Amino acid sequence: MPGYSNFFEFIQTCMVNSSRKRLVIGNWKMHGDTAFNSELLAGLRQGIADVSNCDVAVCVPFPYLYQTRSLLEGSGIGWGGQDVSRHEKGAYTGETAASMLADFACRWVLVGHSERRSYHGETDSLVAQKAAAALAAGITPVVCVGETQQQQEAGETHAVIERQLAPVLALGAESVAKLVVAYEPVWAIGTGLTATPEQAQEVHRMIRERLQAAGAGQVRILYGGSVKGSNAASLFAMPDIDGALVGGASLVASEFLSIAAA
Ligand code: PGA
Repeated sequence: MPGYSNFFEFIQTCMVNSSRKRLVIGNWKMHGDTAFNSELLAGLRQGIADVSNCDVAVCVPFPYLYQTRSLLEGSGIGWGGQDVSRHEKGAYTGETAASMLADFACRWVLVGHSERRSYHGETDSLVAQKAAAALAAGITPVVCVGETQQQQEAGETHAVIERQLAPVLALGAESVAKLVVAYEPVWAIGTGLTATPEQAQEVHRMIRERLQAAGAGQVRILYGGSVKGSNAASLFAMPDIDGALVGGASLVASEFLSIAAA
């Protein structure tokens, strides 16, 4: 019962947890082309019938939103972007507005992925502004947080995540209740190293407590970092893990669907 003071609290949380619908989101990152996507999306469309009780979506590179929408419409699988501008519109070359994502019927957008934070210098406050811009356009931001290996080794995991979450939680209970949080330890992304279910649960529990204190305890918290069909079920068995954000394994339809079905 990692993160719980007693068995009663653990059981109570498990009961509340079962009221949150599981969510599995694929993050294609900078992969794909029209031929590859068309096969992958057809595979997802075909296999989704075997997945029940789980919201499923893919976050694709911007140029493929149109294709993704055309091939997934009516399938029950959602789609979205991997980043969004904090600005509504204007002279911001290279940026994509939340209203543009909404124009392509995106329901989801990743904000603050660790690759954006580290390669593009995205700050905690910028990430919160992007989340607010998405919400204003009616899109659910998936706010990514997570510590580096160095921070983990220094025992700073909780402090780092609290710092990353602070400006997001400051958006207020009404906004926070509408978002999704993804905990992705940077050392587990694309490395094949996964946090153990207990390790992940311990951090998810801490995030849950912060969300509860912000008046939004029912927000779904996804785990990300080398999630595969073979480890998804044990992660999902944890009371505060509500689904997964999946990178590499989301590029293979059968693997991604086996995570959603876990
Ligand atoms: P991974 O990536 O599943 O390939 O580790 C996860 C992510 O970066 O969202």
